[in-house]
Amino acid sequence: MSGRGQVSFRDIVKMHGEFAALRGVSFDIKPGEFFALLGPSGSGKSTTLRSLAGLDAPTAGRVFIDDKDVTFTDARDRDIAMVFQSYALYPHMTVAENIAFPLEMAKLPKAKIGPAVQDAARKVKIEHLLDRKPGQLSGGQQQRCALARAIVRKARLFLLDEPLSNLDAKLRLETRAELKKLQRSLGVTAVYVTHDQEEAMTLADRMAVFMAGEIQQVGTPADVFARPNSIDIAGFIGNPPMNLIPAHYADGDVLIAGHRLKTTAAIPGEREVIVGLRPGSLHIAADGLKARVDLIEDLGDTAVLDLDCDGTSIRMRVGDHDVPREGDTICVTARPQDIHLFDPATRKRL
Ligand SMILES: Nc1ncnc2c1ncn2[C@@H]1O[C@H](COP(=O)(O)OP(=O)(O)O)[C@@H](O)[C@H]1O
Ligand SMILES: [Mg+2]
Repeated sequence: MSGRGQVSFRDIVKMHGEFAALRGVSFDIKPGEFFALLGPSGSGKSTTLRSLAGLDAPTAGRVFIDDKDVTFTDARDRDIAMVFQSYALYPHMTVAENIAFPLEMAKLPKAKIGPAVQDAARKVKIEHLLDRKPGQLSGGQQQRCALARAIVRKARLFLLDEPLSNLDAKLRLETRAELKKLQRSLGVTAVYVTHDQEEAMTLADRMAVFMAGEIQQVGTPADVFARPNSIDIAGFIGNPPMNLIPAHYADGDVLIAGHRLKTTAAIPGEREVIVGLRPGSLHIAADGLKARVDLIEDLGDTAVLDLDCDGTSIRMRVGDHDVPREGDTICVTARPQDIHLFDPATRKRL
């Protein structure tokens, strides 16, 4: 099975008239990987997925699946299963008929369809609902039915476009964990579109972060979190995201609101920078940036503090044992290795 479900995108451009929805997108997905396309709304994620599925032809560039150029191959001949945000179930068919549909289309013998439908329904835990119509199912059950219809064919690629967006928060978390287990047990390559960074962080083996029709970074969630390579990614990943503060840099130190912080940067000389500080890497210290606690958001086991540091607002995450009070003045600092530096002009990591 080695090599099954490998994807390569090469310089894909998609124009809508004068507007470039994709401006040269390239990435590679390994067989069996859970690969997320993450980015804000309108950044080109669905267009990328549709180019991979064969639902949209790119204006330029090449798409390869398992080393075969499929750029202009018909969607039906790509051996791909897809799940959308709207489940797109056939309302007049039962759950069993919905799941069987792709197999009927592929003209599989009747004797094989029944067991395959049972098997797919069992994998997503809806085997007791096979006789119902979609209208008699909850949102979560409809979603499972759509998943079963996608996995029944044992396609080489599994494409999902915001499949959890219509579920309530609790069900979304449960389904998320089950989806990951399902993908692992099937060993299938999954390409997963989401605007929710937490979803991408928890599900993906690797992810591509999209901004305005371009991929700005590809890596494991841990890589992207630890070393965001632009201001835009730094401001998008993490909850709350990284604080981004204009500062003056001189020979390894940064000056913020009159306070000096050491960094690990080995850039000589002086310049203006944007300093990135994760809310969770700030800590209260005897000496540091002096700040007033404006607001405390208590999350139970942690709290997020809104700080006012001489007119600059900074957000900080603290454990439940060291929560100050609103109105207190505290000193906060970060370890040199936790201070990220960005170029204000190019917006890239320094
Ligand atoms: N058929 C179309 N005609 C014109 N613009 C489109 C069309 N389809 C998508 N777009 C635009 O392309 C951009 C990317 O869309 P899309 O890939 O759906 O974004 P995402 O999935 O990241 O939210 C958006 O600005 C969208 O408005
Ligand atoms: Mg989309």
